[in-house]
Amino acid sequence: MSKTRLAVLVSGNGSNLQALIDSIESGSIEAEIGLVISNKEEAFALQRAKKARIDTKVLLPQDFESREIYDRELIETIKSHDIDLVVLAGYMLICSKSFVKEFYGKLINLHPSLLPEYPGADGIGDALKSGAKVTGVTVHFVDEGCDTGPIIFQEVIPIEEDDTQETLAERIHLVEHQLLPKTVKYFAEGRLKLDGRKVTLTDRQQPAR
Ligand code: GRF
Repeated sequence: MSKTRLAVLVSGNGSNLQALIDSIESGSIEAEIGLVISNKEEAFALQRAKKARIDTKVLLPQDFESREIYDRELIETIKSHDIDLVVLAGYMLICSKSFVKEFYGKLINLHPSLLPEYPGADGIGDALKSGAKVTGVTVHFVDEGCDTGPIIFQEVIPIEEDDTQETLAERIHLVEHQLLPKTVKYFAEGRLKLDGRKVTLTDRQQPAR
């Protein structure tokens, strides 16, 4: 069977991209990253991809007349790489409706809060400001809303009294680095079933005797 091919979209550091690279290299996920796309030239994630000999592409929104045209180019680029799953890993642009429609059910995002609490660009800061005692990490399928899609996995993280943005972010990242590869593994093994808003996790298929 051919390996599940991933496109990973990034904007920044790429520690979650690195977690995927490491999980694939260690053999715990049967997948390959066919392409890393960044909307920022300076994203450190690009260096991580190059080090792992993964194809990279930089697409700058400012080079396109509109987001719709930008996303059309994004769609073509992804499709030309024979991709099975698109992973938003710290990709800081909201996807257009046409992009979501094209990849619905094959497009996942990682968010640093327990959605539907604290959606948007500062999930960690918003949780801290709210005075909540817990927050967490969510991996979800992307729909047309902002961080509103069907939830695949979530994990709770307690907020300590003396937490700062940095200390909380550090613990959140540790959990993200487990949860994102876990999600990709489930997808690659055909164990995620999306039915309306509900995601069901199925058992691993036993090989036929
Ligand atoms: C992660 O916290 C993710 O939840 C959010 O952006 C951050 C990306 O971190 N969407 P990195 O670039 O993978 O290190």
